[in-house]
Amino acid sequence: MQRGRTSRTAAAMAVVTALAVAGCTADDKTPQAAESPSVPPSFAPGAEGAGDAYFPKYGNGGYDVAGYDLKLDYAPASGRLGGTATITATATQDLSAFHLDLARLTAAEVTVDGQPATSKADGNELVVTPAAGIVKGKAFTVVVDYSGKPQPLQNEALGVGGWLRTKDGAFALGQPESASTWFPVNDHPSDKATFALAMTVPDGVEVLSNGVPGERATGAGKTTWRWTESKPLASYLAFVVIGQYRVQSTIHDGKPMVIALPASLPASSNAARSLSRTAAVTDFLATQFGPYPFDANGGVVLDDDRVGYALETQSRPVYGNTFFVSQPNTTVVVHELAHQWYGDSVALSRWQDIWLNEGFATYAEWLWQEHEGERTAQQSFDRAYSGFDWSVPTGDPGPDRLFGDAVYQRGAMTVHALRRTIGDPAFFALLKSWPAEHRDGNATTEEFIAAAEQAAGGKDLGELFEAWLFGKQKPPLP
Ligand code: TRP
Ligand code: ZN
Repeated sequence: MQRGRTSRTAAAMAVVTALAVAGCTADDKTPQAAESPSVPPSFAPGAEGAGDAYFPKYGNGGYDVAGYDLKLDYAPASGRLGGTATITATATQDLSAFHLDLARLTAAEVTVDGQPATSKADGNELVVTPAAGIVKGKAFTVVVDYSGKPQPLQNEALGVGGWLRTKDGAFALGQPESASTWFPVNDHPSDKATFALAMTVPDGVEVLSNGVPGERATGAGKTTWRWTESKPLASYLAFVVIGQYRVQSTIHDGKPMVIALPASLPASSNAARSLSRTAAVTDFLATQFGPYPFDANGGVVLDDDRVGYALETQSRPVYGNTFFVSQPNTTVVVHELAHQWYGDSVALSRWQDIWLNEGFATYAEWLWQEHEGERTAQQSFDRAYSGFDWSVPTGDPGPDRLFGDAVYQRGAMTVHALRRTIGDPAFFALLKSWPAEHRDGNATTEEFIAAAEQAAGGKDLGELFEAWLFGKQKPPLP
């Protein structure tokens, strides 16, 4: 189908529809209106960024995505990715156009509610102009046919994010952004959406992604792998891994548990032994945080020098093998699984609140170590508290220090200081009520402080959090 503006007649009819939905009538139009742009002047383009204080251009404005449905084909030999993204969304303003984040890939054809739309690449954004304006509150469906050779995004302070090619395949993951390197997306955690992937690859490689595995279809030397995450995810928590893996599928707690280890590692590697603790760790965390929030579980290990981290990809964390090189490591499994409650099910509204993810995931490590009889949470706190650099505020660390000690260690110390201040019964009740109340949602530091004060029976915790989250000096021992 032709790219670009639709015929004048179609556009004019679309105006009538838009006006009718907006509560106007076609009679409001003067005859000249037929010559004017195809949307009323009150309709405006959605913003090119979600307005995050740290990363103003991440994400977009004017709509709210409900779901991504990707049907893609990847050719490891050429590095080419192509296919269709179907995005269901709702307008949050009267929209004349809107942005999607899409880096280095080319959209060949875009439709909105089945009508051809104009699209134009603008840096790492795709600007879509539908044939008719979209009225605030209206649900709409965008279909993007796209292809290209995906490239990662460079972030000087935070490292590479997104799609990387490997010898036998590719993988895509990263924080704070990665999704736009492989699909058109509203790439900010405040806009959570469900996620379904059908990825077709040559026979001989596996495809891992988020959620529940679906039916596999094979033919003509290719296999289509299906994965469905039916609980809304923040876009940086979507991932795909393509390559040669040993895939172990079991059921835990009635849910699919899929653990994938690189074929390059021996079957009884430290990585395999560590990930085999996933079920036990999940069960322990459920005793602390409440029921596991997702429909599937598992983990994927990447044997790749470029991956010196692990990431809490929703319902199935991805771990760099670097964690397991010299010995098994359960702590990192605890950390990534703790994020399933703190970070994934309850996601950030703004990147500056990252301590809500990392402080709690680190505190979960402390709880686990105490449970294992290694050292108490108090001992972990004491270790961290002495000789700490207090100059970086945990509650607003700055974009370059998103993953610094002030966020992880001082974040966990803040959690412990809260526990000491409100007492164990209120604290452990809060550890469960917070994920329950914000399940599948987003939350801010202010909301957490309010929840903590409520858990503490109305106690004012303003000073405590001011000192621990925002002060630049050593806070007094609680
Ligand atoms: N959020 C990850 C964790 O703590 C760590 C992380 C920081 C990361 N930056 C990243 C992971 C970039 C992948 C890419 O578990
Ligand atoms: Zn973390």
